[in-house]
Amino acid sequence: MKLPPLTIGPYTAPIPLIQGGMSIRVSTSALAVPVAQCGGIGTIGGSALPVDELQADIRKAKSETTGVIAVNIMFAMKNFYNLVIGSIEAGVDMIITGAGFSRDIFKIGRDTDTPIVSIVSSSAFACLAEKLGAAAIVVEAKEAGGHLGTNRALRDLFPEIRKVVKKVPLIAAGGITDGFEMAEMMDKYGADGIQIATRFLLTKECSVNDSFKQALLKARPKDVGLVRSPVGLPGRALMTPFTQRLAAKVAMKAKECRWKCLKKCDHFYCISDRLHKACEGDLEDGLYFTGENVWKMKKIMTVREVFDQFVAQAESVYTGTR
Ligand SMILES: Cc1cc2nc3c(=O)[nH]c(=O)nc-3n(C[C@H](O)[C@H](O)[C@H](O)COP(=O)(O)O)c2cc1C
Repeated sequence: MKLPPLTIGPYTAPIPLIQGGMSIRVSTSALAVPVAQCGGIGTIGGSALPVDELQADIRKAKSETTGVIAVNIMFAMKNFYNLVIGSIEAGVDMIITGAGFSRDIFKIGRDTDTPIVSIVSSSAFACLAEKLGAAAIVVEAKEAGGHLGTNRALRDLFPEIRKVVKKVPLIAAGGITDGFEMAEMMDKYGADGIQIATRFLLTKECSVNDSFKQALLKARPKDVGLVRSPVGLPGRALMTPFTQRLAAKVAMKAKECRWKCLKKCDHFYCISDRLHKACEGDLEDGLYFTGENVWKMKKIMTVREVFDQFVAQAESVYTGTR
């Protein structure tokens, strides 16, 4: 049996797979376009980008593919609304949003015919998102990379949200590393699709510095843990000299705030600076967000290889040939 397509609002992805948005400049059009070309939903990480840079990247992506292109914008960002409006003006197909909850975004979605996809980590927010008009809901569990809204595992959290979301597609995210797990989440747990990010970080097309990818390839399970973040949520990241200093409570307050990126920031350290450093491959001072199951990934693949592997493995489960 073939994997079913994923329809969100007026857009249909032939493969029910969303590439999770990764900020800052981890998932750009360089990654989102090949994902969309392979039949998934390619997502540009929009948080903390200048609006004109994000718009230029969306226009680039839309000119290079007829596939589905989304932008992920965290509600915690100070210029959340400008990024949302700017993305819609630039022609993005849908907005995916998490790290806080915006009610107003659904009105913007209705007024502009733009599907809004909510990332949630509880059944209460899933119900609210559906009631307010979300076009799809992503359930993100504790195995995910980056900022986390729960300490519950995907297979524990997903079933109770599956019970309450009735009308819109429900997507599973956090720690999914291959097509067998994709089939498990869809067939056994009733997900309409999956969202994965770390697997795509370890692709040739992802434009971060190669040192970032090599550090993740070497990671053992104990090398990934939780860090404090100025966003106010815990973040899942690779343990590095920087995170060790953080754990030892060595304050790294920046002298001045260069980015002014967050609505609320405790300024314990500058998250934008640290994420930029990771993209550049600074192993000493960068903050390397990654999913908990990165240790299962043994090589850098192309986006096409990831899709071929996921689809073949998932469909082998569906057809009972595994
Ligand atoms: C490097 C990195 C950056 C991320 N940045 C964001 C982000 O800006 N906004 C967001 O909603 N999620 C972000 N995430 C979470 C992913 O979009 C995704 O939901 C999650 O990582 C899925 O789990 P997986 O990485 O185990 O596949 C990030 C994840 C990683 C690894």
